[in-house]
Amino acid sequence: MIVAQISDTHLALDGADSDRRIRDFALTIADINALAPAPDVIIHTGDIVHNGRSEEYALAVATLAKARAPVYVLAGNKDDRANLRTAFSARSYLMPDSDFIDYAIDDYPVRLIALDTLSLTSNRGDFSSEQVRRLIGFIDAETEKPIAVFTHHPPFEVTVGPDRLHFEKAETMSRLRRVLQHSGRVIAVFSGHVHRAAEGRVGSIPATVVPCIATTLRKGDYPPAMRARPIYHIHRFDPAWGFATETRIVGERPGAAQSMIRKKPART
Ligand SMILES: [Fe+2]
Repeated sequence: MIVAQISDTHLALDGADSDRRIRDFALTIADINALAPAPDVIIHTGDIVHNGRSEEYALAVATLAKARAPVYVLAGNKDDRANLRTAFSARSYLMPDSDFIDYAIDDYPVRLIALDTLSLTSNRGDFSSEQVRRLIGFIDAETEKPIAVFTHHPPFEVTVGPDRLHFEKAETMSRLRRVLQHSGRVIAVFSGHVHRAAEGRVGSIPATVVPCIATTLRKGDYPPAMRARPIYHIHRFDPAWGFATETRIVGERPGAAQSMIRKKPART
């Protein structure tokens, strides 16, 4: 099973670099479409758009419509839940009766659980008691398959960059971390938000952050030849070895990406 994870496209219509963000997003989808073997699924871990506007979501929907693999989206701190839900309502995975953009996907050897860590009061993450109950329900709904969890805000201390905690309250992140570990079946956590690569753990569960697709918002130092090239992650699942994550650097031409392969420790 192959998962392509993209994040933080921050589409906007009236910024100085709006065209660049649209281009970064489109080049990334074209690159994913050219992968062989093709990914089974594409997950966008939030900050799809920059201002939460319907017109921005229309552009995102049009870009993602070109993807050959099924696409699932999460909400980031820049997203607007209502406008996101409306824009992606054609896909039935977003439950219309929920206050949150959270769901489980059961179509693959690994169950995919998407969480909603969006706070209405800050750019940092939040996770309410109601969401804790919902997450336990998602995890316990099926007890055979391993689980990969996707979040916008990483639920671990990020030791690169100026901000180590990306949740409003440390105890909120600790509560989420406890729930992620309660079943023993969550084998990986994949996040965005930080705009640079990071790795951590949730107990014994390996966790990673994918850099942002929007190259003008990326944090960290990159060689000049890489500055205009979006970066995303490919997570390959093997039943014996768990997930191995490959970092893809998008080329100017679809399929011309270079890659760096990094194996994660197996978790059985
Ligand atoms: Fe972001």
